[in-house]
Amino acid sequence: MRQSSLVVVANRLPLDDNAAPDGACEWRRSPGGLTSALHTILEQTPATWVGWAGGLGPAPALPDIGSLRIRPVALSEAELRGYYEGFANSTLWPLYHDAVEPPVFDRDWWETYQAVNLRFAQATAEVAERGAAVWVQDYHLSLVPRYLRELRPDLLIGFFLHVPFPPPELFMQLPRRVELLSGMVGADLVGFQRPQAAHNVAQLAAKLLAAQATDDQITLADGRVVRTGAFPVSIDVAEMQSLARRPAVVTRARQLRHDLGEPRRVLLSVDRLDYTKGIEHRLTAYSELLRDGRIKVRDTCMLQVAVPSRERVDSYRALRDRIEGEVGRINGEYGRVGEAAIHYLNQPFDRAELAALYRTADVMVVTPLRDGMNLVAKEFVAAREDGAGALVLSEFAGSADELQHAFLVNPHDVDGLKDTLLRAMRAEPADLRARMGAMREHLRGHDIIAWARAYLSALDHSGRLANQLPPAGGPKPRGAAAKARAIIPRSRSVARRRPPA
Ligand code: ADP
Ligand code: G6P
Repeated sequence: MRQSSLVVVANRLPLDDNAAPDGACEWRRSPGGLTSALHTILEQTPATWVGWAGGLGPAPALPDIGSLRIRPVALSEAELRGYYEGFANSTLWPLYHDAVEPPVFDRDWWETYQAVNLRFAQATAEVAERGAAVWVQDYHLSLVPRYLRELRPDLLIGFFLHVPFPPPELFMQLPRRVELLSGMVGADLVGFQRPQAAHNVAQLAAKLLAAQATDDQITLADGRVVRTGAFPVSIDVAEMQSLARRPAVVTRARQLRHDLGEPRRVLLSVDRLDYTKGIEHRLTAYSELLRDGRIKVRDTCMLQVAVPSRERVDSYRALRDRIEGEVGRINGEYGRVGEAAIHYLNQPFDRAELAALYRTADVMVVTPLRDGMNLVAKEFVAAREDGAGALVLSEFAGSADELQHAFLVNPHDVDGLKDTLLRAMRAEPADLRARMGAMREHLRGHDIIAWARAYLSALDHSGRLANQLPPAGGPKPRGAAAKARAIIPRSRSVARRRPPA
């Protein structure tokens, strides 16, 4: 068994299984903020990634990606339902996102969640060198830090939560709140996107675990000290900049605008099709602007990209039906022959196409009701080398803390959203350039490598881990495997596949 000094554990591997046209299995980069972020760092750092490969049954043998080793974890159909679709995505995901959709508390899911977390911890224990650092990611694996500490007390354990951590009064609804919190604080360092999350956890640790807690340190009843803090995640800024600069991408952006009928203003949104993203609120605002005659279809066009996500979960299926119904209604009511009010694309795209889309937009509309970070907002800013384009950004996205020069908005306030969209559409080019310049300046110093460096330096004060990372913002040799597979395909993996009717 090959072992590593750095092990990353995340539910999803950075590769997804897809049937190639000839029926062979093909591995490509999987969608979502977490894998987008970590893929960049780990492709260039000697490490092992422990995760699920997106299929059912025995884990396939997977090749290394550059210097990154892959250790797949198998899931059965029942485990997928209880652990991933159930406890992770029907209980924790909605609860952690302000319960914008009611969380489901199903007692059977808990057993499966525990069993799968234990399996991840065991797989990690096998591939971690003596004294290695293990970096556990996200809400799927909240119990892994504690299980791992029991199995391997020699390890340095970090946990990072990519999603928001809810206010105590919401977390207190969780039937297994004590076990869940104890699982997370099994780590030496627990990291969050925003400082408020560390504050919430401190309050809960005092209440539920009888700990002594401040916003950056929790002393547990047995005397062990757990550090906490905010480490806002970011993107591969250099990658997005160089993509957006490519002549083929610039040409493609022009072509897209032409295909859209050369409207004066293109509004763009790019989301996983998720109820946290505020897609319905934004459709309401846009359709009311059309209804009120404040915008006209021939001048303005909206492009909504919504990549399929968690399609076997009821709330996601219902959301998709509602959105598609509403898009149809708006187009039926306000579209004209050859002039759609909304172009709706329920498909994944490769990175170059996303960069072209970002370059095409006059106004990027990012309006989640709650979002840990929202990397799409950062990708848009990184892609705007031309300094143009407006970003309308929800106050409830973690990225709003950093992108203060965006047009910030409360998506629940539909009138406010309508006014802000109009303000962004009508802003002076000089104002937009100043805002974009400030946001780009911020991103340059806060890319994904800077994030990993900050976290790993806090986890391991010796600097050993952080020193293995590539330099922030520097040119990066990209692994051949990753280059060949840096495509996010129409997914056929079971978790995103549309269920049989
Ligand atoms: P989340 O993590 O909730 O999915 P983020 O905005 O943080 O939200 O990250 C989404 C990631 O998925 C981004 O890197 C974005 O580029 C990618 N993505 C979103 N939509 C698509 C799509 N249609 N095709 C390919 N990638 C997409
Ligand atoms: C969010 C979560 C990630 C998750 C991603 C995509 O970013 O924080 O952990 O991987 O969404 O969701 P999926 O269910 O397809 O993994």
